[in-house]
Amino acid sequence: MKIVTIIGARPQFIKAAAISRVLKDYNDLKEIIIHTGQHYDNNMSEVFFQELEIPKPDYYLGIGSGGHGVQTGRMLEKIEEVLIKENPDVVLVYGDTNSTLAGVLVASKLQIPVAHVEAGLRSFNKKMPEEINRIVADHVSDLLFAPTKTAVDNLIREGIPREKIFNVGDVMFDAALYYGEKADKESNILEKLELKPGQYILSTIHRAYNTDIAERLKAIFEGLSRISREVTVVLPLHPRTKVALIRERLFEYVSEYIKIIEPVGYIDMIKLEKNSRLIVTDSGGVQKEAFFYKVPCVTLREETEWVELVELGWNHLVPPSSADMVEEGIKQALNSSSRLDAQPYGDGKSSEKIVKVLRKYLYQYS
Ligand code: UD1
Ligand code: UDP
Repeated sequence: MKIVTIIGARPQFIKAAAISRVLKDYNDLKEIIIHTGQHYDNNMSEVFFQELEIPKPDYYLGIGSGGHGVQTGRMLEKIEEVLIKENPDVVLVYGDTNSTLAGVLVASKLQIPVAHVEAGLRSFNKKMPEEINRIVADHVSDLLFAPTKTAVDNLIREGIPREKIFNVGDVMFDAALYYGEKADKESNILEKLELKPGQYILSTIHRAYNTDIAERLKAIFEGLSRISREVTVVLPLHPRTKVALIRERLFEYVSEYIKIIEPVGYIDMIKLEKNSRLIVTDSGGVQKEAFFYKVPCVTLREETEWVELVELGWNHLVPPSSADMVEEGIKQALNSSSRLDAQPYGDGKSSEKIVKVLRKYLYQYS
């Protein structure tokens, strides 16, 4: 049985690593990896393949950056060539990026079954490109692997047949557990950055809605700069955000206050997360990792797809409409506490569950 995995952006490498590791154990399943090249810098791509021991992509499409139309269009053309040549039994896609969208469009039009990992997430904000990508992916997929009960409910509400949906938990929890111990042993990032456990805030910002609207970008970085006069703020800078800060002539200013570093590999990232006092982010993955590692979190957005964390009181949603709001939201979170005994993201064995369902499906329909 041939499975083609389509990935292209940082969080997809991490999710795919968890499943690839399980697929390797089955001699009857052959995985072919297509890397679209949506992310291409060493520290946004290559480092994950090395650290997480993901098999080298069979096809690297080298698409790179561009507007949504250009980027997705180029992907469509090249993915189609590969899928026609490989003619797989199923195509496996992850999350909600343009690589996901291109993968599902090509596969479904070639009538190749599609399996979507991380199905059913909704922000109910169609201004986010990811929301469009998710909706399309879910509605053309044949197997929908939902990470949470909320995600299952969203899919059912949209009329997707129950028998296509599998509540398997979150593959990022699998990864967080597996690589968490490795990070403890192997990463020396704290020493390298001269950070003391529990005495710094870790931040990541990259959502288009926060970087591409100048007022929001300024509010976020002014708020973080003020906070960093009291508590060290470390921020591995996503390339999109770097471009935006330079465009708005803010880069030099914020670098004076915030400890801006290049994006780090997953092992160092986990070490930074685990030892931070608070995480301030707009990332989907990082919000959950904060919860997995029991670090309080502020999410600088109006809404989140991971609503469980807000309901549990663990994640504080702070819309970054002004620097005051950002500063105040972070200060409140620094002084708050909550209990954490729920586990809404499964048992850390999502990848095994996904591969089991996939295999059953493949044998049933071959
Ligand atoms: C993409 C996803 C987003 C995901 C994020 C993970 C879409 C629409 N968005 O956003 O859902 O949360 O990845 O990180 O698919 N760049 C580089 N080097 C790189 C990659 C990007 O310099 O290796 C810069 C380029 O200036 C590029 C910009 O970052 O234009 C944005 O990259 P892009 O892949 O379009 O979107 P992300 O913001 O990374
Ligand atoms: N991450 C990383 N290095 C960094 C920043 C993030 O390894 O410098 C990891 C992070 O731990 C998480 C994933 O990348 O597992 C999240 O990716 P990102 O925030 O880019 O995308 P999102 O999850 O918002 O789609």
